[in-house]
Amino acid sequence: MVILDHIQKIFHQDTPNENQALNNLSLKIEDGDFITVIGSNGAGKSTMLNAMAGVFPINKGKIVLDGKDITNLAEHKRAAFIGRVFQDPMLGTSPSMTIEENLSMAYARPRNMSLHWGLDFYRRKIFKDYLKDIPLGLENRLSTKVKLLSGGQRQSLTLIMATMKKPKLLLLDEHTAALDPKTAILVNNLTQKIVYKNKITTIMVTHNLEHAIKMGNRLIMMHKGNIVMDIKGEEKSTMTIPRLLNKFEQLQGEKFVDDRVMLA
Ligand SMILES: Nc1ncnc2c1ncn2[C@@H]1O[C@H](COP(=O)(O)OP(=O)(O)O)[C@@H](O)[C@H]1O
Ligand SMILES: [Mg+2]
Repeated sequence: MVILDHIQKIFHQDTPNENQALNNLSLKIEDGDFITVIGSNGAGKSTMLNAMAGVFPINKGKIVLDGKDITNLAEHKRAAFIGRVFQDPMLGTSPSMTIEENLSMAYARPRNMSLHWGLDFYRRKIFKDYLKDIPLGLENRLSTKVKLLSGGQRQSLTLIMATMKKPKLLLLDEHTAALDPKTAILVNNLTQKIVYKNKITTIMVTHNLEHAIKMGNRLIMMHKGNIVMDIKGEEKSTMTIPRLLNKFEQLQGEKFVDDRVMLA
């Protein structure tokens, strides 16, 4: 469904800061895959997602989606079929607009059709139904400005907006990392609910090894711009945090230290 074929991404090429962030990376993503991605800081996780989203041109390789070569397709064109949620709850929604206005923008996308006033009642009903999926009471606050919401509420709203149009691919880059542990679980539960209900092919980067093991059908580990582990099925469901940490430490030659993992 999505193929990354020998992708290479070099930042600041031919300068003293030259940095090969993706090193001949290949990955075949099946329709309906829900892949969790782990790896140390700088392993290339965000760069892999950004390459798929078309944030920058890649140096070598090919990206194919549903049989179509999208390697040179502009970011805004890919946005029509790729949904994204980032770590920062401040991104992804417009703070000075209301919940309803934010949802309307996502709902009208990508055709930009101006919705008839007569549709308002119907549209509000749809929005309320979306919001009822999260136990945050947002369905009764449609006219609240988004800047008044908590980080978890904003991430939940961003997630709903990113998936409203059933994207072919959903890219989540540590979208719960800035949230407290309880809220992170809530947003992860919403993530699973939306992904499974709509069968959305999803790639989720996380620092939390427990979430990486529990969520999705496939887990990959990245290191130095490449994939060093790719497990699914029984191998994934029987994977443990100690074994993952072990693998991490073997690759890094040092102890894996991350308080978010220790707390998990
Ligand atoms: N826009 C950029 N410009 C220059 N260097 C970048 C950029 N994005 C990432 N890098 C570099 O590429 C490497 C991989 O980064 P990144 O993909 O963000 O890692 P991860 O998400 O796994 O922590 C790092 O060395 C990082 O400094
Ligand atoms: Mg990153």
